[in-house]
Amino acid sequence: MASALIILAAGQGTRMNSDLPKVLHRIAGAPLLVHAMQAGATLEPERTIVVVGHGAEAVGQAARDHDPAVEVVLQECQLGTGHAVARALPALAGFAGRVIVLFGDTPLIRPETLATMLATRADVVVLGFDGDPAARYGRLVLSGGDRLARIVEWKDATADERALTLMNSGVLCADAGLLGDLVAGLGDDNAAGEFYLTDIVAAAVARGGVARVVTCPEAETLGVNSRADLAAAEAAFQARARAGALDDGVTLTAPDTVFFSLDTVIGRDAVIGPNVIFGPGVTVESGAEILPFCHLEGCHVSQGARVGPFARLRPGAELGGDVHVGNFVEIKNAVLDQGVKVGHLSYLGDAHVGEHSNIGAGTVTCNYDGVSKHRTEIGARVFIGSDTMLVAPVTIGDGAMTGSGSVITEDVPGDALAIGRARQVTKPGAARRLFDIFKKARELRQKESH
Ligand code: UD1
Ligand code: CA
Repeated sequence: MASALIILAAGQGTRMNSDLPKVLHRIAGAPLLVHAMQAGATLEPERTIVVVGHGAEAVGQAARDHDPAVEVVLQECQLGTGHAVARALPALAGFAGRVIVLFGDTPLIRPETLATMLATRADVVVLGFDGDPAARYGRLVLSGGDRLARIVEWKDATADERALTLMNSGVLCADAGLLGDLVAGLGDDNAAGEFYLTDIVAAAVARGGVARVVTCPEAETLGVNSRADLAAAEAAFQARARAGALDDGVTLTAPDTVFFSLDTVIGRDAVIGPNVIFGPGVTVESGAEILPFCHLEGCHVSQGARVGPFARLRPGAELGGDVHVGNFVEIKNAVLDQGVKVGHLSYLGDAHVGEHSNIGAGTVTCNYDGVSKHRTEIGARVFIGSDTMLVAPVTIGDGAMTGSGSVITEDVPGDALAIGRARQVTKPGAARRLFDIFKKARELRQKESH
């Protein structure tokens, strides 16, 4: 059935104590708003409307960055969730189908739960959960079975109503036409002086309609209102992502120490060691191995590759099959073809390395001259000697070799050996003479200080 999505994201979030609008705070590398949008997008809605207010410009931009097709609607004054939905309705003109309302600060909602709500037959479907009686959520008042009579906000609830433990998550679903009618009839005569979206339940029932509740675990409805909530949401996301990776056939040696992003993709039979962090935009193919203490972001690791321990892959790092990147190696915006080895203590940035080349310990692509970035091209089957400085722009031909400790400033043709360092001078006995001089100097200093 056709569906549309309204995501409410106009609120201020004062308890975050932040200059950043609340829904732009991130968990798993992505803004809260994007989590909600992504969950909603699994329903393949015909339209998605994001209601913005506080930080409207930035929030609207983040929404469009994630989905250019989204409609952004401004709610200048935050007069309540019902008012926010009313602002979104004009963007639904001509749409006939069901509308799901989500909150931009509720990032953990699962697509399956939204699908269950869509599949539930009723005029209004509300997502509820069993919560702590001390919680200040709206209470769902049932009229038998899963039938809802009304929702009462905590502020307005009697002691008996506050004792109810079935809570309102805020997510609801209704037919577009009906939603329009119901929202138009909302008033603000309540403890908060707001237009409560929740009041549409009683209004629907008063018209002879049916409202039902669908329940989900509380973890899914966790709404972020403070930094503590943000940390809790991060932890909950990570727990879910770890369990998901294990189910997908990924080995996690110490799951609790691995951190994923919303968009991390890891293939079956990949092995991830302890203390590995996946920033946004990482794909690890099946069978690849990430050893302990690696940090990856915006990169691709192909089948059979081994990374780490203690390696950093930055945006644009692309490792081909069976590539080996060892300890204390940083790769940025560089493509390493099949079988390349960079074993130790190296930096490769703005570079391409051809297949089966070996990059010696301590190699650095000197890619930045203080003003611009320059590229380093390394051919296939090249041997870069340890401690080579490749001063970009520079090209090393196929099968070439550089001497250890070289500073390479000019292109090296294929199969050539380039050495760019001072020639060694060996002076017999000179070390002993020098030590004697140093020792005498020290004795003299010690005498003077007494
Ligand atoms: C709301 C529900 C409450 C539920 C709780 C779950 C209402 C009246 N109450 O309360 O029953 O238990 O969520 O978390 O709906 N927003 C706007 N414009 C506004 C007001 C809010 O866009 O004018 C957005 C906020 O940015 C936020 C969401 O709507 O994303 C919820 O608003 P909030 O004020 O946090 O509602 P609660 O008081 O938590
Ligand atoms: Ca809230």
